[in-house]
Amino acid sequence: MSKIVDIINKAETTHSLTKEEIVDLLRCDEYDQQLFLAADRVRSQFVGEQVHLRGLIEFSNICLQNCYYCGLRKENAKVKRYKLSPDTIIDFANKAKTYEYKTVVLQSGESQSYTVAEMKYIITSIKALGLAITLSLGEKSREEYQIYKEAGADRYLLRIETTNKKIYEALHPGMSFENRLRCLSDLKDLGYEIGTGCLVGLPNQRMEDLAEDILFFKSIDADMIGLGPFIPNADTPLAQEKGGAFSTSIKVMAITRLLLPDVNIPATTAMETLNKNGRMIALQSGANVVMPNVTEGEYRQMYMLYPGKICINDTPKHCRGCITGKIQGIGRQVSKEFGFRKSKK
Ligand code: 5AD
Ligand code: SF4
Ligand code: FES
Repeated sequence: MSKIVDIINKAETTHSLTKEEIVDLLRCDEYDQQLFLAADRVRSQFVGEQVHLRGLIEFSNICLQNCYYCGLRKENAKVKRYKLSPDTIIDFANKAKTYEYKTVVLQSGESQSYTVAEMKYIITSIKALGLAITLSLGEKSREEYQIYKEAGADRYLLRIETTNKKIYEALHPGMSFENRLRCLSDLKDLGYEIGTGCLVGLPNQRMEDLAEDILFFKSIDADMIGLGPFIPNADTPLAQEKGGAFSTSIKVMAITRLLLPDVNIPATTAMETLNKNGRMIALQSGANVVMPNVTEGEYRQMYMLYPGKICINDTPKHCRGCITGKIQGIGRQVSKEFGFRKSKK
């Protein structure tokens, strides 16, 4: 049997690989189908056939950061900036509940556009609807994270983006890798379920770096891992870059499932931007979560991280029906539970 097949078997049975073994897997494309089937079996065995839906509310595109890859970066003057009022955000969450979502993800650029008191009001009000709350607001102080946790937030998404410190610092002017690690560690410590993840195909990123990313997810005991290809945006300094490949992204995701068998892994929107069946392929290669957009109205078009983002002209109602059909079409079901990692609730 080939060395690569041995590595896949080892990952499936022990959920542990060395950096070199991960690099070998990433470099060889010949056994990709075996890799995806193994990840699909581990997904089925550890987290089952249910797909958890999270309703994504993109509540503000105002951002003070300047991440080189992102369309919402502060210096992109082409973006028309918006912030939804607290009551509009609560209203969108209420609508998401009527579409039978059990979790809403509150995502925005990193800014100080809302006071801590306003965020607390939003979290408390949405929590009172009986929904689980995931926050994705970027880097904040431990104190601020603690206030939101106490107000009822359950989970927090903060991708490390890349564990290569040099690449990280080159792409995030004015930000520090250490502070990002501090944020993730504070969030875990405060009792949040933490989600992290990376971009695949960043400039100068090697297979070794992606292997380190996967080992990092395991080392911090992340509860959720969201990853996808870097897609160059014409209105950013990385406009001329090549971007990440769909196949590499799916492979990084599949290996992540093999090594972290019980975590939640979304089939990300960026995957579907590069492949029209990308989210279903992801769900059959290790993923068990989808995050349909529940932002109402014209705001979806204004939340352009990268070009080609899906569903920008669709309504929450349409997306809910669409995704249910697709999930059932591959023989899986939409979960009616909250979908916490350790079935805490
Ligand atoms: N391509 C793909 N993903 C991107 N993100 C930001 N810009 C891009 C891009 N050009 C991702 C980042 C961030 C998440 C909200 O969106 O990983 O964490
Ligand atoms: Fe802002 Fe997030 Fe985009 Fe960075 S990735 S520019 S923090 S919205
Ligand atoms: Fe939005 Fe299919 S999920 S149109």
